Amino acid sequence: MIAPVVVLDPCFDAADAVAMVDLCERFGRYRMYAELEPLDTEIGQGLAPRHDALMNFLRTGGLGRTQEPPAALGVRTSYFREEYAYGRDERIDGISPFLYHEPFVEAARSIHGRAVIEPAIAYANLMVPGQELAVHTDVPEYRGANRKVVPQWLLVVMHHSGLFDEYRMPIATAIAWFHDCDGGELAYWPDGAAGDARRHRVRYNTALVLDTDTVFHGVDRIARVAVDALPRIGPGTTLEYATDRTWMLHAADGAQISRYAWDELRFSVSWKAYCFRDAHERDTWREHRDDLTLDAILDHLIDDLRSRDRVSGNVTRDGALGQLLIDEYVRFPISTASSASSTS
Ligand SMILES: [Fe+2]
Repeated sequence: MIAPVVVLDPCFDAADAVAMVDLCERFGRYRMYAELEPLDTEIGQGLAPRHDALMNFLRTGGLGRTQEPPAALGVRTSYFREEYAYGRDERIDGISPFLYHEPFVEAARSIHGRAVIEPAIAYANLMVPGQELAVHTDVPEYRGANRKVVPQWLLVVMHHSGLFDEYRMPIATAIAWFHDCDGGELAYWPDGAAGDARRHRVRYNTALVLDTDTVFHGVDRIARVAVDALPRIGPGTTLEYATDRTWMLHAADGAQISRYAWDELRFSVSWKAYCFRDAHERDTWREHRDDLTLDAILDHLIDDLRSRDRVSGNVTRDGALGQLLIDEYVRFPISTASSASSTS
């Protein structure tokens, strides 16, 4: 089945598009995505927040299938992220025209064929030259299970397993761009992981709306930057607006790492909304009337692993089980022969 994709071109009127670039600069400081929202759980011990996408990226060398040292690949996919709004909590002035943009709402209705749309989040992704985004599906949500209480990779496993669909909250995502960018195209697989990738060029004031929780996607490398010329991005590195359309990478100790012109970066703003069938379904979620728990999720997945003869006896709920779950259920469009054979 081909997943629906809505193109908005143009996305906003001219003034609102300019205002989003201003908003990005006003926000000022962006942390590394991998360092946001650490969650300490037994099942997540030793695993990265997006262990599924990270390991596949390291195994395959990403969209370019490059053979580079893991440290270099780590820099390439350590991009920057901040939330502009979470639910109705607007964290910067001027985000509401984006958060409640009617064309996003209309497109969201058509993506899942559901009438009641509830904006959930707006956030920015920023990437510097030489970076790319590992192929992944986004973090889905279930009643009672979201990224605040369940590891992100486990939510992804839940969706790919298909075992929790009755609890799933279908989400539509808009990805909007506010500059023209050479490279950094969005690669996506609307025909499924076994189909061909399509590519969308980043153009000013355009957006795509689709189900990114289901459709695999990634970002092609932005500019060619050799391994030895990559910036020294490490723990605590931030990307900050400097002045006059220029941006600066700062090390954790405040030292300046490198400066970029706005046009060298890749900037996108994502919007996500829950798509409910009706008000009753929305209220069931709001009032936590039928929630999953982490224990119930793991019980169900372990039972399924047992039925597939992947585990037996007592199963320890640790990081090793997490890796097994990822390998068992998440089938990437770009994967290596070794990872494919180990999971089949
Ligand atoms: Fe994504």
